[in-house]
Amino acid sequence: MNDVQQLLLSHRSIRRFEPEALGDDLVQDLVRCGQAAATSSNLQAVTVIHVKDAAKRERLAALAGGQPYVAEAGAFLVFCADLHRARLACEAEGGTFCEGMTEHFLLATVDAALAAQNVVVAAESTGLGVCYIGALRNQPQAVADLLDLPRLVYPVFGLCLGRPAQDPEVKPRLPQAAVLGVDTYPGDAIPEAIRAYDEAMRAYYRRRTGGAKESWWSLEMKGLVGKEARPHMRSFLAERGFTMK
Ligand SMILES: Cc1cc2nc3c(=O)[nH]c(=O)nc-3n(C[C@H](O)[C@H](O)[C@H](O)COP(=O)(O)O)c2cc1C
Repeated sequence: MNDVQQLLLSHRSIRRFEPEALGDDLVQDLVRCGQAAATSSNLQAVTVIHVKDAAKRERLAALAGGQPYVAEAGAFLVFCADLHRARLACEAEGGTFCEGMTEHFLLATVDAALAAQNVVVAAESTGLGVCYIGALRNQPQAVADLLDLPRLVYPVFGLCLGRPAQDPEVKPRLPQAAVLGVDTYPGDAIPEAIRAYDEAMRAYYRRRTGGAKESWWSLEMKGLVGKEARPHMRSFLAERGFTMK
């Protein structure tokens, strides 16, 4: 394993940060690394909002269900999938923007995620810690209003960055047998992999919480995919112009 691979394998989300704010120069360097990510057809459908205003940070922390690190981290970035710029360019060339294509929605969302992960790796390479904040989609319209997002732009997730004030254990991942298929989908390997992973995660949660949290991956998945998740997203996206044709 080289240094980059070691860095990737040492990732863990950080949710407690030292209070100092990250400088603009550092944030700009990190976002430049994000912009360097591959992007579908050079669409570059990501816009990053660096939220510096303390009141807006507090509001976003509340909108994200009361996650204090949104306000406390050294920096908070909102990654938006953005077709607004491409529309302007298309129309400036006399074209007609074809609104509502599911494929365009996918391109923009993937672009935002790839750029963000580049920012994450760049940040972690300097010793910073990060935590993605998908909970911005709890109330996405309020987030869009707060940040003045135009139509064809939606907040995919936020990202807390800062100097870590905790040193959590790396969270185990699924056994690779269930994740990496050779020539075919690794279906047969899945039941045993899940069983083994449930054991590993049960032990991980016990260690992490001093025995307070009794859970395992399958139980967490029951909570996650065993009920509706943010059912407002479909109408919110349609309202923004992502009508999924
Ligand atoms: C798109 C995305 C959204 C996330 N949203 C949140 C969030 O709102 N709050 C939070 O505390 N962690 C959030 N996380 C962090 C995940 O819980 C975390 O990455 C996962 O449990 C694996 O743990 P690790 O990052 O420590 O390896 C999010 C991660 C991703 C990729």
